[in-house]
Amino acid sequence: MGIRGELLTLETMSTLEIANLLNMADQFAKGKQWKSERDVVVANLFFEPSTRTRYSFEVAQKLLGLHVLSFSEENSSVQKGESLLDTVKTFEAIGADLLVIRHPENEYYQQIKDKLSIPIINGGDGSGHHPTQSLLDLLTIQQEFNSFQGLNIVIVGDLRHSRVARSNADVLTRLGANVKIAGPYDWMTGFADKYEHVELDSFLPDADVVMLLRIQHERHDGSMSWSKESYHHEYGLTIGREMKMKQTGIILHPAPVNRGVELASELVECSKSRIFKQMKNGVAVRKAVMQRAITGGQLND
Ligand code: CP
Repeated sequence: MGIRGELLTLETMSTLEIANLLNMADQFAKGKQWKSERDVVVANLFFEPSTRTRYSFEVAQKLLGLHVLSFSEENSSVQKGESLLDTVKTFEAIGADLLVIRHPENEYYQQIKDKLSIPIINGGDGSGHHPTQSLLDLLTIQQEFNSFQGLNIVIVGDLRHSRVARSNADVLTRLGANVKIAGPYDWMTGFADKYEHVELDSFLPDADVVMLLRIQHERHDGSMSWSKESYHHEYGLTIGREMKMKQTGIILHPAPVNRGVELASELVECSKSRIFKQMKNGVAVRKAVMQRAITGGQLND
């Protein structure tokens, strides 16, 4: 049993709780206003680079009236050898009520969560999980189709190294979607035994959602056998492939995007793309997640 309001992975969250969180996020996306009635200090501890997650959390925190501490690893005592545990205990001691953490180690939270009395919101752990990204992807899909039941969703690319794919494949299946995977077979470790591997070209006409992934070069061991051009040709969403999609199909990508690799540059803002809508929804989702953390697990209207 974790601290009420923490969010480490969606795996332990029921589909009812996910639905409630998405409904709250949707209200925020539609302009709902909510501010914390008490002083809340939140520390954003990012041990890996981030643009969207870090700054959409910060925008959401400021709009909820929270006091924000932005931590920079390069200018902190991590440089003097301080452990993750001592860093988070320090923020708790100086008054943080909530921690948002991104860290390169899978399940970094296992080594600290039982030693803290304040909740952690996971902003991404190695190739493990990225629950708020998953929630913003779910919100974007829900806004489009109202339901997940029976949707054909294909996740394309470097699934093995992707925390986004891991979070999404599991939760989308639980919510009733048909999840397929596509891309180089040796990038499917951990997925190929659970999800059907399809040929992108033949599946595209049936796909409601095409979820593209960045090649996670930072997690490869240097044995990348694909040039950008050959990957784009074999597995990327080219203009020709986009034309095979059904009219109502949508394109998602967690970003950052490598234009001309996972998808043609011209498709980043095409009529089927929801890539910037995902980012906008990130603020609404993070407001809902932080409201839940501040109110000890409750979602207040
Ligand atoms: N999608 C995502 O997590 O982006 P950042 O790495 O920029 O936060």
